[in-house]
Amino acid sequence: MAFNPANNIQDLQYFGEFGGVNPSVSDSSTYTFLSAKTMFDTFEGNADGCYLYSRHSSPSNLYLGEALAAMEGTETAHVTASGMGAITAALMQLCGAGDHVISSRTIYGGTYAFLKNFAPRFNIETSFVDITKLDMVEAAITKNTKVIFCESVSNPLLEVADIRKLAELAEKHNLKLVVDNTFSPLSISPIKLGADIVLHSLTKFINGASDTVAGVICGTQEFINNLRNVNDGACMLLGPTMDSFRSASVLKNLRTLHIRMQQHSKNAHFLAEKFEANGLKTVYPGLKSHPSHELFKSMMNDQYGFGGMLTIDVGSLEKANELMELMQNRNLGYLAVSLGFYKTLFSVPGTSTSSEIPEEEQKEMGLSDGLIRFSVGLDADIDRTYKMMRDCMIKLNILEKEVQSVRA
Ligand SMILES: Cc1ncc(COP(=O)(O)O)c(C=O)c1O
Repeated sequence: MAFNPANNIQDLQYFGEFGGVNPSVSDSSTYTFLSAKTMFDTFEGNADGCYLYSRHSSPSNLYLGEALAAMEGTETAHVTASGMGAITAALMQLCGAGDHVISSRTIYGGTYAFLKNFAPRFNIETSFVDITKLDMVEAAITKNTKVIFCESVSNPLLEVADIRKLAELAEKHNLKLVVDNTFSPLSISPIKLGADIVLHSLTKFINGASDTVAGVICGTQEFINNLRNVNDGACMLLGPTMDSFRSASVLKNLRTLHIRMQQHSKNAHFLAEKFEANGLKTVYPGLKSHPSHELFKSMMNDQYGFGGMLTIDVGSLEKANELMELMQNRNLGYLAVSLGFYKTLFSVPGTSTSSEIPEEEQKEMGLSDGLIRFSVGLDADIDRTYKMMRDCMIKLNILEKEVQSVRA
């Protein structure tokens, strides 16, 4: 039977204390032991089911972790206090001084800054490559390479990584393929395509409420145990621990992810088709014009669409700013970074979420000044939204007036 991540979430059955339909929240930082011997065994990692201290693990965090592992099809998972907490801990666990990472050059600005500016302090070097060019990825592999890192659908350019092929390369050279799946939860299941570790910023679609930052690392039991190891585990020692109350609230939101993703995708697809027909330079993996449209189709789980993210290029930063301000004034969404909210969020990545990437490199990778990134909301009537957005564009001369009648 085809892998269906939403079924795996639906099939979870957690009982709370006193028979509650939601698991009880563990409101404790530390846990008692009936015998001193069990405490010793727990420190040694030999007492399954015993909780020690909440930086290590807590019942609430385990519930959410197991739910996300079920969604991604991994043995287990470890939740973290932010997406960056997941990315940095996973990479620091996999790499030490002298090691080398190959990363897609179009990735979230924070991840880019970590690999480019922070990891070299520990003598971990990164080659940034065009991840869609597999020969370039292979050519960048050295004897010190440990990891290939990419986003399934990249932030902000929406490039699509060929996870199957990258996984083959990783296997051939004995590397770990680490995939940030933040932009395409449910739509793409990287582990099923051969990835070794999947990361998410839960802050985005998965939580979907823009009320917290959170992250997760999904992988094998062995890798997650390593991350939690009291002697040398990056999650245990660097301390990116999620609070139990947040874990409980993210778990509740996870249950509606499939419905939300369907609506985000439907709305984004609708807007992308309209914008493209209006003559705007539009990037959306669901459009036939997207260079990796067929690749996305070959990797996707049916039903969840091509995701809620799209970009348009309105020519200049000034025009982009004017349009975003006008759309916000007309209550079409918020001029804000981040994604996965019920309202549309728009921002100009070049000067915000990707500002860590030097201007010259932005140009090289095709990140232009006038590029607006949309995280399309859950609008019940997307045609109404489209018409209002089109009016904003006509008012600012981004679209000509004839568009209204010709292509209505
Ligand atoms: C693709 C991607 N990965 C990771 C992150 C970082 O996540 P967080 O902000 O939860 O630390 C972001 C944030 O924008 C992102 O877009």
